Amino acid sequence: MDDDMVSVAEPILGEAERDNIEAVLDSGRFLQGPFVEEFERKWAELVGVDHAIAVTNGTVAIQLALNAIGIEPGDEVIVPSLTFGSTATAVVHQAGIPVFADIDRDLYTIDHTDLERCLTDRTKAIVPVHMYGHPAEMDEIIAFADTHDLRVIEDAAQAHGAKYKGDVVGSIGDAGCFSFYATKNITTGEGGVITTDDPHLAERLRTLRNHGMSGRDKHVTLGYNYRMSELNGAIGVAQVEKLPEFNKKRREISEYLFEELADIEWLNAATVREYVDHAYFWAPFEVATDQLGLRGKEVWNELRNRGIETRHRYITPLYNQPVFTEHRGFNSDFPWSTNPRPHNYDLHLDNVEEVVGDVIGLPNHPNLMPEEVDRVINAVRTFDTKHS
Ligand SMILES: Cc1ncc(COP(=O)(O)O)c(C=O)c1O
Repeated sequence: MDDDMVSVAEPILGEAERDNIEAVLDSGRFLQGPFVEEFERKWAELVGVDHAIAVTNGTVAIQLALNAIGIEPGDEVIVPSLTFGSTATAVVHQAGIPVFADIDRDLYTIDHTDLERCLTDRTKAIVPVHMYGHPAEMDEIIAFADTHDLRVIEDAAQAHGAKYKGDVVGSIGDAGCFSFYATKNITTGEGGVITTDDPHLAERLRTLRNHGMSGRDKHVTLGYNYRMSELNGAIGVAQVEKLPEFNKKRREISEYLFEELADIEWLNAATVREYVDHAYFWAPFEVATDQLGLRGKEVWNELRNRGIETRHRYITPLYNQPVFTEHRGFNSDFPWSTNPRPHNYDLHLDNVEEVVGDVIGLPNHPNLMPEEVDRVINAVRTFDTKHS
């Protein structure tokens, strides 16, 4: 990237990560050893659950969680329509069928008032996403799930350490899934974790990630090699200690940015409920296109021209993605063929359509220097005078 560009995200690694990596290289033990175990222990403690199961990434974390709760071919799983694709591709990996719900107009998380529309006799689970670091409305989602005997898998990939009414996300549903991809609040390079309080689920997850093996020789179920390597675990052990400080900085920068930009009429900072601790994976705002006369993509581009990298996602609703609309899963119509309902995804959900393409994330990572934060503010301001 251009040296002079203010970056929107960067992994922040230090001596401790380096020392741990060196210890792995010295030990010659690369596979799910003491560092992975320590990372699991620390993550379970941070989330406040009994079990954390480390895996290779956040996508397979969701797939395995759906497997462990018993999703069968053709079972329906309700997911939000505007999120990273793997919330829903993970459902298809488990031969389930994603059913797309609208998003909350203020929070961009799944709209709990749309769950009823999505419900059928094949619905088995809901996967709420804690979008951009803001927790979904879990009380309403859990109440709906309880009423209809559904399981809840939290997609907490973007919400390390976020809290909903005092509970850390990943501890609220049946299981929580995290990603430690390089741009996330903390990283392990690539990596994921599943959290749960259920010992049976935890045991099944440990078997599934390790070739479905029990002991050294028995394949008791169809499993996978989704184990986390020691190199990734070694980075994770060092990173997890830094999460509270990283999140504090993300919050401070995000709040400062939006305080300073509060008078910009075309920039609507995303809502933050008073009962959450936001993880600020993003510092999201919505472009008021009627005020500015520009769409999100153009704003993203203009900011780039001013030396500011921003995030501009998600710009295609999942119900418009070919993998789902054209049933491109298993080189056949599977798993849709296992369910009698027509799942043609010919949807046009109000809040999704209103928001899509116009949400932008400002740089807010802990490595930003104060002058870089001010450059972000100034860039948005020049923009304002030029276009409004
Ligand atoms: C909401 C969401 N779910 C799932 C994932 C998948 O995680 P991974 O990239 O580690 O597979 C990501 C991000 O990468 C994400 O943002």
